[in-house]
Amino acid sequence: MNAFSFYNPVKLIFGKGQIDKLSDELSLYGKKVLVVYGGGSIKKNGLYDQVMNSLKQADFKVFELAGVEPNPRLSTAKRGAEICKKEGIDVVLAVGGGSVIDCTKLIVTAAKYDGDPWDLVTQKAFPKDALPFGTILTLAATGSEMNAGSVITNEETQEKYGWGSPFNFPKFSILDPVNTFTVPLDQTVYGIVDMMSHMFEQYYHNATNTPVQDEMIEGVLRAVIDTAPKLIRDLGNYELRETILFAGTMGLNGFLQMGYNGDWASHNIEHAVSAVYDIPHAGGLAIIFPRWMRYNLKVNPERFAKLATNVFHVNPTGKSVEEVALEGIDRLAEFWASLDAPTNLADYHIDGSKIDLMVEKAMARGNFGNFNQLNAEDTKQILTACL
Ligand code: NZQ
Ligand code: ZN
Repeated sequence: MNAFSFYNPVKLIFGKGQIDKLSDELSLYGKKVLVVYGGGSIKKNGLYDQVMNSLKQADFKVFELAGVEPNPRLSTAKRGAEICKKEGIDVVLAVGGGSVIDCTKLIVTAAKYDGDPWDLVTQKAFPKDALPFGTILTLAATGSEMNAGSVITNEETQEKYGWGSPFNFPKFSILDPVNTFTVPLDQTVYGIVDMMSHMFEQYYHNATNTPVQDEMIEGVLRAVIDTAPKLIRDLGNYELRETILFAGTMGLNGFLQMGYNGDWASHNIEHAVSAVYDIPHAGGLAIIFPRWMRYNLKVNPERFAKLATNVFHVNPTGKSVEEVALEGIDRLAEFWASLDAPTNLADYHIDGSKIDLMVEKAMARGNFGNFNQLNAEDTKQILTACL
């Protein structure tokens, strides 16, 4: 493995009823709080009332930013930052999925930055300060609750980029599986696809001697593959929700990426697709990832065969390494299809007419991918296979 430093300061507060800790945790940072949330799911399932009651009982002065979109937009983060500046907010609380948390990461850094917040996303400028923030996660998927990443869409220029900063770590994140009970079937599946994709991105690297990391990723993947089919038939099952919630956090909090850089090309391609078409992030990944795998199989067939045997239980007897590897990729595609994830861009009524635009978006920061670097032609071929 490569030399590395690991840093993750997020206080993870996990389990049933842990919302009881909310006011104590927030009080550490002040009394004027901006609560950020999405399109209303927390009002329907009662979490909004729970949060507000707990804040009122502890005498917080509460401000609100509602309506953060899936694929959160720059304009919404700007509105949040303006509220913070105008009202002198002490601390921000994100209540929602990855989109609400990602938007909050830009709000807290933009609140302490005088230029255009898009500069922070494009990394023309780097935050020097930020407001503290905590999260209550309502959807198992992105890992944003325990990492420093954020993905923001500039709706005017149709650009969607991931960015990070040391200020993007939440101070605390409260994860109660009960708060994920109302996540509908499609979003539950998207979350599962997303967290599995994070593990694949990290599994495909060029470092050697990573047996501990390999076992950890393979183990979490096996747990998710075992749990997902049961969960989609029993969405209110506490233990199944608990397993998936924990897996999503472990999938992208840095624990599975010590000693190497993951690949992350599929995520880059997906961000280009959803910048142009505004489709769900993991819907795009379900389509792109198996194609990325087939396209890159020859780079290191043994690696793909290892995934096939250790995670998808492919029997290697009498088969070539390539055959085993391909069977593993087919089993992944079949597994996601069995959960009813999309399989082709046509499922979102996307045809080839804007392929060049998507390639251009994917190439905006140059060639990409750490396991295998992709150029524009490679990207076009992968996207064409996705149609
Ligand atoms: O907006 P509301 O009404 O809350 O509804 C949301 C939204 O429509 C709904 N939802 C969330 N919790 C719910 C619920 N519905 C019922 N009950 C609940 N408990 O689910 C919908 C999707 O929510 P969203 O937050 O968009 O989903 P997700 O967590 O998958 O986040 C996706 C975003 O995260 C980015 C993606 O690109 C995308 O923009 N990513 C962020 C990463 C990071 N920060 O590390 C990494 C990821 O790879 C990803 O790129
Ligand atoms: Zn993702």
